[in-house]
Amino acid sequence: SKEKIERLKQSVRNIPDFPIEGIQFKDVTTLFQSPENLKDLSEVLTSSYKDKGITKVVGIESRGFIMGPILALNLDAGFIPIRKPGKLPAETIEESYEKEYGFDTIQIHKDSLEPDDVVLIHDDLLATGGTMLAAYKLIKRMGVKKIYINFIIELELLKGRNMFPKDVEVETLLKYDI
Ligand code: PRP
Ligand code: MG
Repeated sequence: SKEKIERLKQSVRNIPDFPIEGIQFKDVTTLFQSPENLKDLSEVLTSSYKDKGITKVVGIESRGFIMGPILALNLDAGFIPIRKPGKLPAETIEESYEKEYGFDTIQIHKDSLEPDDVVLIHDDLLATGGTMLAAYKLIKRMGVKKIYINFIIELELLKGRNMFPKDVEVETLLKYDI
């Protein structure tokens, strides 16, 4: 409901000038802190995916590892981690993307997804969209049946949403225009 979502939004802590001046940092740790909020978040984050036939939830290290497995449990799906380089022990494929300073790389296990998988990629926050676009490309290369994208928070001013092809469903729960 509207009130539930508003209550969740109120529980995200804003940290001005972190990590650098001018940035309004959205601290999700306060969102997970209360048992009631965690339960509400788990429910509302999951609700629109119930009838989509999701078979795998992919979470992006680190903050996508908090709600990712909860989404997977709620949807009777498996959980697959995308990790920073050198962390996954078996054979991986990777994708590099540009960050504010320099490049970053993410990896996924090559044998973690099947052609008939319906995948929900989850991360906590959509800023420029660079991280999620790299994850999307990675999973696209693996040739699954369908890909959905989910975030808890969207920073609308950064227009990260425009990074993704028009036909991809990108859902965000808490939207900020600051
Ligand atoms: C943050 C956040 C998203 C990403 C969003 O992660 O958790 O993953 O940045 O930014 P973008 O849309 O501009 O790519 P970060 O890389 O700081 O690492 P962490 O999750 O390990 O804290
Ligand atoms: Mg992250």
